Amino acid sequence: MNPKRLAIITVILILIASLFVTYRYYWPESIESVSSKWEESTHSDAGSDSFTHWDEDDPPLIPTNCAKCHSTYGYRDFMGADGSTERQVDEQAETGTVVFCSACHNDPAHEMTSVAFPSENTIDQLGREAICMQCHQGLRSTGDVEQAIAGYPEDQVVDELQFINVHYQVAAATLFGNEARGGYQYPDQAYVDRFKHDDTVETCIECHDPHSQRITVEECSVCHLGVVDYSDLRSIRTTENDYDGDGNIQEGVALEIEALHQMVYAALQDYAREEIGTPLIYAKQFPYFFIDSDDDGEVDQEEAAFPNQYSAWTPRLVRTAYNYHFVHEDPGAYVHNARYVLQLLYDSLADLDQVTDTAIEDLVRPGTEEAQ
Ligand code: HEC
Ligand code: HEC
Ligand code: HEC
Ligand code: HEC
Ligand code: HEC
Repeated sequence: MNPKRLAIITVILILIASLFVTYRYYWPESIESVSSKWEESTHSDAGSDSFTHWDEDDPPLIPTNCAKCHSTYGYRDFMGADGSTERQVDEQAETGTVVFCSACHNDPAHEMTSVAFPSENTIDQLGREAICMQCHQGLRSTGDVEQAIAGYPEDQVVDELQFINVHYQVAAATLFGNEARGGYQYPDQAYVDRFKHDDTVETCIECHDPHSQRITVEECSVCHLGVVDYSDLRSIRTTENDYDGDGNIQEGVALEIEALHQMVYAALQDYAREEIGTPLIYAKQFPYFFIDSDDDGEVDQEEAAFPNQYSAWTPRLVRTAYNYHFVHEDPGAYVHNARYVLQLLYDSLADLDQVTDTAIEDLVRPGTEEAQ
């Protein structure tokens, strides 16, 4: 072949290849692939209560304090993507949306680097994960609990008190621990900050695909040997602390948390029965704490009904129930920040132990700087 022609063809091939590389770099996935992942995710689940809850209201509008997380209009309004004030929802939002592409993809959302939490603490220097953190942060924090119970004797039933609900799927509040103060933190205790984990799995979107929300288990196996499928994640542990005092330091940290969570529930039930005199049960439906009318410790269908909600709240019950429910609202807590929730549960047990008998002396409270 003529050398000149060969040179031209080579240059053209190099150009095509570099265009392709640039394209893959900036647009690593096709829109089709991204869209089909999103369609399978719960963010696009138009039938979910999260997106239909206000449909029957008259008029059907989502209140300003709910719209940010429950509608694309509300999120864009909050971001200022609709030209309105930034970081504030100005108007009630119309119903009929889910978390559409345009909620997360607009200039203000792409440029956002900081996120304020309900505690009013702000986390800076964030990347695109900031988008997720605005909605997965809950609605309450330590301060709300402190304010509600201030000035009342610990074990007195107070009519004005009620259950304080952190709200759903509070992953970011767990992950940032003491930096977000999403749990109820006791004033005399220290709590761990953000769970740094490892550089490659530090942010929401390094673990969760932003569109499918899914985790790629193989990415965990690189460091956590023996992890083959999803169910193995619950057997991961990296310390030798027997947090739940059962003598087993082989079980996953998820199981240590689960055991402590159950101990707090048992202690809450003892406290309600013995100290308050009104037995209590917890059911996985709003408003979660109900009166155990027949005092059998179990949830019966007619007991878990709104009119039967628990109403004999003392300051001690408010703060320990808050933490119990907080841990329930993050099923990924053991990955997001195991030590933070272990601390919250341990401290809640120690709190209840002042009045009822818990096995607190057998347990280990994780320290704030430990990495054993
Ligand atoms: C900071 C973001 C945020 C705000 C603000 C918010 N929510 Fe939610 N809410 C969520 C998330 C995340 C879920 C997802 C729950 C799930 O499906 O597990 C949710 C779920 C719900 C659900 C559905 C529960 C279910 O069983 O699926 C209802 C109802 C709800 N919220 C009501 C409200 C109301 C009322 C307000 C305003 C007072 C509000 N939310 C404000 C984040 C928020
Ligand atoms: C819940 C928020 C959210 C929604 C909804 C969302 N995206 Fe994304 N998207 C992201 C984030 C965050 C990234 C950045 C990922 C990164 O930097 O690793 C991203 C990245 C992308 C990319 C770049 C390719 C890639 O994978 O990095 C494309 C293209 C894209 N999104 C298109 C879409 C389309 C089309 C939709 C609707 C079908 C959509 N997105 C919905 C959050 C979202
Ligand atoms: C505009 C608010 C909003 C944003 C932004 C948002 N989410 Fe969500 N997310 C929700 C709501 C609401 C639900 C519950 C949806 C439902 O009930 O169908 C949810 C559900 C989830 C779930 C639960 C999936 C399941 O199986 O239950 C995961 C995981 C999740 N989001 C991760 C993310 C990640 C990662 C990001 C950032 C890329 C993100 N979310 C951004 C509001 C949001
Ligand atoms: C180290 C990886 C990792 C990081 C970082 C991470 N997650 Fe998760 N997340 C997981 C895993 C694994 C699960 C599932 C746990 C399970 O189901 O046992 C999970 C669960 C969740 C759930 C609950 C889903 C459900 O089934 O209800 C939500 C919501 C969530 N993550 C959102 C987030 C958000 C928002 C961030 C950033 C603030 C984040 N995650 C950071 C790994 C991670
Ligand atoms: C690059 C290595 C690396 C990757 C990848 C990784 N981890 Fe980890 N993981 C660690 C290290 C190191 C620790 C201990 C960190 C510490 O204690 O401060 C840890 C701790 C944990 C813990 C807490 C264990 C305990 O006993 O407290 C869980 C759970 C966990 N990882 C789950 C996951 C999941 C799920 C994934 C995949 C989404 C993942 N990890 C990916 C390195 C990694």
